[in-house]
Amino acid sequence: MAENEPCFNKPRYHGVSPALDDAYRLIEAAGVFYGGQLVGTAASVDPKAPAENYADCFVRDFFPVGLILLLENRADVVRSFLHLIMQLRGQQEELEGQQIAPGVMPASFRVQRNDHGEEEVLADFGDRAIGRVAPVDSMMWWSMLLHAYVLYTGDLDFARSPEIQRMLRMILSLCLQSRFEVFPTLLVPDASFMIDRRMGVNGHPIEIQALFNATLRCASLLLPEQGSQWLVDLAQRRRNVLRSYVQQYYWLDMDVLNRIYRFETEMLGVDIENLFNIHPESIPLWVQDWLPDGAGFFVGNLGPGRMDFRFFAQGNLLMLATGMATVAQAQALTSLIEQRWNDLLGRVPMKLVYPAVEGDEWRLITGSDPKNIPWSYHNGGNWPVMIWPLVAATIKAGRMDLAERAWQMVEPRLFADRWPEYYDGRLGRLVGRRANIGQVWSAAGLLLARYFLDEPGLLERLGFDETLDEATESAKE
Ligand code: GLC
Repeated sequence: MAENEPCFNKPRYHGVSPALDDAYRLIEAAGVFYGGQLVGTAASVDPKAPAENYADCFVRDFFPVGLILLLENRADVVRSFLHLIMQLRGQQEELEGQQIAPGVMPASFRVQRNDHGEEEVLADFGDRAIGRVAPVDSMMWWSMLLHAYVLYTGDLDFARSPEIQRMLRMILSLCLQSRFEVFPTLLVPDASFMIDRRMGVNGHPIEIQALFNATLRCASLLLPEQGSQWLVDLAQRRRNVLRSYVQQYYWLDMDVLNRIYRFETEMLGVDIENLFNIHPESIPLWVQDWLPDGAGFFVGNLGPGRMDFRFFAQGNLLMLATGMATVAQAQALTSLIEQRWNDLLGRVPMKLVYPAVEGDEWRLITGSDPKNIPWSYHNGGNWPVMIWPLVAATIKAGRMDLAERAWQMVEPRLFADRWPEYYDGRLGRLVGRRANIGQVWSAAGLLLARYFLDEPGLLERLGFDETLDEATESAKE
């Protein structure tokens, strides 16, 4: 498609509501072209965006846009995007004597003109990013989009091309490399995913574990005859243990909390209850009053002597959407969302993290980050893009009613406020203090959620096809 041609041709929700029309318009306006071809979308079209890199196309931001493009017969764009990102890998520079792992994909890229007026693509692997953060999740979102593309279009040839095979092998070997870990989860540094600033998430954050599982699943696209059988087997084995491990140890409900509260510590050996030596003194006061009976969620992080009791939305929702949770956990989690609606969804779904860290904790955990003051941005801000994983998760859990309620609430709001990136305050009633407007994934999230609500079967066709029942089976094993 050439630069002056429209991206969407009478899309599904054309003329249905001013908000949905505007959402398509925004995605269209954000188009990033290379060689005259549409290859991605900018994160935001706000000319006054607080950071220069919002004009970049971010891999994670493009994911919901990519799914919409698949649904609107623009699989060609998704394919170009996947291909371009893969090629950008070669641009990775050495950082003062060390090389970033070869499977790492850029957080974002931009197309610019060089001194000779020629187009060039400039990728950011963390070497330009604010705070020099390298994304771990880009390769994971890329893999999930590849999987969705192949499932939806049936274009297996693309997945089987030598370049894609090579890329998949690199990603999987990178994730499956054994370093010093003893857990089946993936160890990552702070700021290495959607929360790309210091928020005390270094270790084994739940979001990465859900994405890790989805990435391992892409091993099914590998051609075993090309010497990849060992990777396929390894990925499968890791996936099985990862899923039951997260289901078992990250889960928190009142029964589990009661057990942790009375945990013995300093236990040695194999068959012990307090595996991670969690000190009951570390349970924050808010948890016992906040957690309703019969409800539960996956804690934010887990490791030696550490349980991060905060609720992280993206990780929890992806656990359901990707079929990693058990049926009982899905019911308990949606019950939590329903009973703690004001805290978790407020006026705009959904808080990225609940509750916010304040005072000394804020100083120590965020490094006194003024963008992440309590109840703002990553630290307790409400992110409209969360509507699509929320809808996917609640559909999976059989709670369409919650999904529809959230969607109806947010549609007029986002349109009236011109698609902010995030909202502030305990209830999310304020447009984020430093939020962009014209944030593309806010619009894409709303649109994609509508497609899922009207045709839940699409979830399966786009790769969210693992059922919660299967997860229950693996928990029993
Ligand atoms: C912010 C967010 C990140 C997002 C980027 C572009 O840095 O933390 O998750 O990808 O903006 O929208």
